[in-house]
Amino acid sequence: MAARARFCLLSRLVLLGLLVDADASVANTSWASPPSRAGGFPRQLLESARAPEFSEWLTGVRRTIHQHPELAFEEHITSELIRRELDELGVEYAWPFAGTGVVGTVGGGGGPEFALRADMDALPIEELVDWEYKSKLKGKMHACGHDAHVTMLLGAANNERMTLRRAVAKLLDPVTIQVDHPNIPEFSCVDLMIILIRSLLICGTVKLVFQPAEEGRAGAYHVLQEGALENTSAIFGLHVNPFLPTGVIASKPGAMLAASGRFKAVITGNGGHAAAPHLNHDPVVAASSAILSLQQIVSRESDPTEARVVSVTFVQGGDAFNVIPESVTFGGTFRSMTTEGLALLTRRIKEIIEAQCAVHRCSAAVDFMEEEMRHYPATSNDEGMYTLARKVGEDLLGEDNVREAMATMGAEDFGFYSQRMRSCFFSIGTRDETTKQPAHPLHSPHFFLDEHALPIGAALHAAVAVAYLDGRPFSGLE
Ligand SMILES: *[C@@H]1O[C@H](CO)[C@@H](O)[C@H](O)[C@H]1NC(C)=O
Ligand SMILES: *[C@@H]1O[C@H](CO)[C@@H](O)[C@H](O)[C@H]1NC(C)=O
Repeated sequence: MAARARFCLLSRLVLLGLLVDADASVANTSWASPPSRAGGFPRQLLESARAPEFSEWLTGVRRTIHQHPELAFEEHITSELIRRELDELGVEYAWPFAGTGVVGTVGGGGGPEFALRADMDALPIEELVDWEYKSKLKGKMHACGHDAHVTMLLGAANNERMTLRRAVAKLLDPVTIQVDHPNIPEFSCVDLMIILIRSLLICGTVKLVFQPAEEGRAGAYHVLQEGALENTSAIFGLHVNPFLPTGVIASKPGAMLAASGRFKAVITGNGGHAAAPHLNHDPVVAASSAILSLQQIVSRESDPTEARVVSVTFVQGGDAFNVIPESVTFGGTFRSMTTEGLALLTRRIKEIIEAQCAVHRCSAAVDFMEEEMRHYPATSNDEGMYTLARKVGEDLLGEDNVREAMATMGAEDFGFYSQRMRSCFFSIGTRDETTKQPAHPLHSPHFFLDEHALPIGAALHAAVAVAYLDGRPFSGLE
């Protein structure tokens, strides 16, 4: 193992030298002098990613997905597109995971296993942006940028290949050789070199996780349950951010996104004529008391230094002025910056609603709908992984363009990966600063993103994976 690690490191250094020198001059290649690492490989990746043909390919992929948005666990067209692209790139994959998910494998095998994740699903929103590549499916839209996430991850696989191709092409005349095999009609020296170099370059394995159903349906949980990442030690993910300029990324160590759950309560009383309340058990008053009491969990029962939210977002009762209804239904969301905090909220929401309803001679059934909408754990960034990804980001984009993010009470099923392995989640800016258009938030029917962010995301994914497998920031990684 140690010998293999040394061999891998050596081949990495030689290759980095090759990549760095390839842009200068072949004649000046010096195998003896160590390559400069400052920004070297990440910059190479970004440069490749920004090559016009690569950007065009990325944009094409993203627009195709954008036009065919599919809801949670229905991502069949998207899954097919991903598999087709992976076939083209010569990346092996396994599927289905969680119905439509695809997990690609890149690298030489052995060593540590690192995962990159993209979510695939769209939202039940009618797109109101008027542009050529608008959603073709009524009432469905990629309003959360998952089309861009899939594209960036496909781009990462292609980016690594293109970077090597450029470097190798500069060193060799691409002599085409005929290979007598039905599946390999024509193969250039460059292609052969790429295959060889790729297996050496990645000492370890990179899993490309195309995951279904992020929007409320816990696709990540199911991908993990099905064992797709049973050998994986760390994972990295990106999410577009329409308020950060293109070229800027942001994250923070520790808790970044909240744990979250949903609840629905049905309060049953005894309906009747509103002129005779003493003959009825009024579920409207019971629900009102319960809703007000729920607000005291955060203000009276929680440590004020810990962020928590309980929001009741809908109430449905009767519809006549003079009838006390038989029942009232209400529900909402609750969040906590810690997964333990969420468990406490879950317990207290049920207790308080039931007790308040008993006071008012009604009964309550509280449902957390965990079968279809499993609670999301908090997304918390591992300190070491964060430091690594930030460093890679700084090499790629410059120090000023890697910002410290604020924690928010938004939730992500990336939290399921956080629970199982070292993880880090970054925001990637998609705001085109050259336009005067206002930025629209995620989940808005007006949501729009700057496609110049696609190559940046592709390069960032590839560079973080390569950096992780180098094992530099971690001692005793294996
Ligand atoms: C190669 O190296 C020499 C000496 O360091 C330098 O003068 C020359 O400009 C280099 N050539 C290229 C093409 O970079
Ligand atoms: C995990 O490793 C074991 C042992 O090498 C292997 O049999 C299994 O297929 C691996 N699982 C995945 C999902 O790669």
